[in-house]
Amino acid sequence: MGELGLNKIMGALLATALFMMGLATLPSLVFGGSGGHYGDKEEPATLSEKMCSQFHYCIEIAEAASAGAAVEAVFDLGAALLTADLTRGERTFSGQCAACHTITPGGANGTGPNLHNTIGADKARIAGFNYSGALSNAEGAWSYENMDAWLKSPAGYVRGTSMSFAGIRKDADRVNVIAYLAANTEGAPPFPAPMAPAAPAEGEAVPADAASPPAEGEAAPAETPAEEVAPT
Ligand code: HEC
Repeated sequence: MGELGLNKIMGALLATALFMMGLATLPSLVFGGSGGHYGDKEEPATLSEKMCSQFHYCIEIAEAASAGAAVEAVFDLGAALLTADLTRGERTFSGQCAACHTITPGGANGTGPNLHNTIGADKARIAGFNYSGALSNAEGAWSYENMDAWLKSPAGYVRGTSMSFAGIRKDADRVNVIAYLAANTEGAPPFPAPMAPAAPAEGEAVPADAASPPAEGEAAPAETPAEEVAPT
């Protein structure tokens, strides 16, 4: 083995050592080595979290995730009314409302006004009933949406109402009562239309032949940064 061969070996060793040193420092470069090594952390954050904190690459992903959650959280009154249970609605009305309200045509006012023909009618319309100033001044008619908000929290919907009723928390119970009110309204307005499912609606909005790279990039912002799918 000549001197040249030895130099080659030394060179290779040196290169390997440098390479290893590079590898050792790489994680702290990529993953943010604010003191300590990668292995010191009890629960290393996910790669996307690190990308997020370092490169603000998270924004699109976070927005996509929260948008999905928001869609799930929205209460679809129209859809719920379509499957409402009138028998249960009547039972809830008897248990929680009838102490103060009649609902038969021409029924007497009690602590609260008669509720026949209420859906779609003006608020506080019963002539002989002594409404609170708050409800008397409330604008508009009793739409399904209004009624839902009112029965969820009367005092939250009309501040200062004299209806001492906490509200019906459970969506299904509330919707059943609303359907029961509608069943006791002659010529009640149609139920609000159920919401269109979000994802298929977006898919339909894209023309069939528009499978272009920008459209795909928009469809999957969480997977690939837009810059990488831009045409070269
Ligand atoms: C403790 C008595 C009481 C109970 C229980 C009660 N209400 Fe009332 N309700 C009232 C009073 C009082 C008013 C009038 C409120 C005002 O003037 O601010 C009222 C008003 C209303 C109105 C508005 C009517 C209009 O003419 O604008 C509706 C609708 C209504 N109640 C529905 C219900 C339903 C449905 C229930 C059961 C889930 C219920 N209430 C339970 C006392 C009650």
